[in-house]
Amino acid sequence: MGFGRKDLVGLEGLSKDEILYILESADSMKEILERDIKKVPTLRGKVVANLFFEPSTRTRTSFELAGKYLSADVINFSSSSSSTTKGETLKDTALNIEAMGVDGVVVRHRASGAAHYLAKNLKASVINAGDGTHEHPTQGLLDLLTLREALKTKDLNGVHVAIAGDITHSRVARSDIWGLRALGAEVTVAGPPTMIPPFIERLGVRVVPSIDRVVKEADAVIMLRIQLERQASPLFPSLREYSRLFGLSAGLIESMEETPFLMHPGPVNWGVELSPAMQGYPKNCILQQVTSGVAVRMAVLYLLLGR
Ligand code: CP
Repeated sequence: MGFGRKDLVGLEGLSKDEILYILESADSMKEILERDIKKVPTLRGKVVANLFFEPSTRTRTSFELAGKYLSADVINFSSSSSSTTKGETLKDTALNIEAMGVDGVVVRHRASGAAHYLAKNLKASVINAGDGTHEHPTQGLLDLLTLREALKTKDLNGVHVAIAGDITHSRVARSDIWGLRALGAEVTVAGPPTMIPPFIERLGVRVVPSIDRVVKEADAVIMLRIQLERQASPLFPSLREYSRLFGLSAGLIESMEETPFLMHPGPVNWGVELSPAMQGYPKNCILQQVTSGVAVRMAVLYLLLGR
């Protein structure tokens, strides 16, 4: 089976087989990452452009490393020093970059739908690295890869995953939900009512108002940052209150017999959604997620550009 798509804009609409195919390719990429010399010639002669219009540490760096490990040439575009500051549009910027011979465009943008818009307008493959509150598909895939490894299962059928925090503004939550549901996992979301989108149950998830119960029931919990940059007005009285009601504390974990694996897409706001003591939690998979991110991005670049 080949992947057969030009772009990766979201996990919505991808079949279980397509997702498993990417994850199995990522398993092979992980073997390359464990070698002393992490370089294969697979994408020699291909050019990848990272177009980031929003800040990023993990996604931008791991796409750059992923391209380099596969021998692609990678260019990093910085919006603050580009001609977008002189009024050039997103489409014109991308068309000009493509005209230089680029094969793949990795785009992060504050506007939901930006990746889809570029995918329609470019011949190059477009990979969504996070568009507004819509999707962050490679984060969803790296979360699935991490869960498969932590839970020692190829399939996530019947696995229970909780996602807690600012669901409304989280593109990670949306990609996680699409991916987890496609692989047969049960998903529960928890957060303040002001941060739970209306009709989220239509995506096949359960909603609970408190983190305590869901953490006790779940095999893994994905904690999310409050996306203050996307909130038009404050959605909770104070960070202290949010942390007390919706943060994951070492005290809560210590009161449990069966504990869940802990994940977080980053950046973590220690002391808000996670108590600082959780850094030493034995089932903390946060850095494992980052490693999975390189393998997933290598797999996605290979499947789209190596066609
Ligand atoms: N998880 C994630 O997207 O992190 P960055 O914003 O650092 O890329």
